[in-house]
Amino acid sequence: MRRGAGILISLEGCDGCGKSTQARLLCERLLAAGLPVGPAGAPGAVVREPGGTAVGERIRDVLLHGTDHPEPWTEALLYAAARAELVARVLLPELERGRVLVLDRFVDSSLAYQGHARALGLAEVLAVNEPGLCGLLPDLTVLLALDPVVCMGRLAGSPDRIEGQGLAFQRRVAEGYELVARRFPERVRVVDGGRASGEVAREIAELALATIESRAGRQP
Ligand code: TYD
Repeated sequence: MRRGAGILISLEGCDGCGKSTQARLLCERLLAAGLPVGPAGAPGAVVREPGGTAVGERIRDVLLHGTDHPEPWTEALLYAAARAELVARVLLPELERGRVLVLDRFVDSSLAYQGHARALGLAEVLAVNEPGLCGLLPDLTVLLALDPVVCMGRLAGSPDRIEGQGLAFQRRVAEGYELVARRFPERVRVVDGGRASGEVAREIAELALATIESRAGRQP
């Protein structure tokens, strides 16, 4: 599958690691640098997994706010389905337009949460995602590393279904992310999320700008 000249950057980490705040800050910084950030129809916006499309938002609702607990493979396939919708309807067309997209979670969340924490297997979960990914992986994935105990202490409000799984589950998610970082060293950068937010934001912006520059250097 051919992809456009745009750039795809994903942010990953355990629940409460500060990823959503950092995704927003990154969009602001890239926008200030004059880059075409976010979908053309929503400049400057973060693209959120598993939502971002009407069908994806409905799937997200089933996954996070239902009272039923789907089987692990049902969960993995629903995330993959929401992702397929996002890839086809948002990511590929926007990359074709040359947009710089910042994703709050992408396929690595499924590898860490469903592949490792739910013990379905990284390779197995990647395999069911592949048809919907159409060959698309991020140019850069920032993994915010932070002790799950600290992450859980930061979670505000009532937890969604996955946040409510507890500390042992979040520890397995963190282990899953370590496996992801080892499996994809060419695109995953681990950033220490335990520092002041501004410091973390600066490091992420540097990584993003370096990726954008190196990709621009490779354009014909
Ligand atoms: P998200 O809305 O990104 O949560 P938060 O902003 O609280 O980090 O994701 C919601 C939950 O879904 C989160 O607990 C992680 C989980 N999740 C998976 O288990 N697998 C996936 O593939 C994705 C994208 C998210």
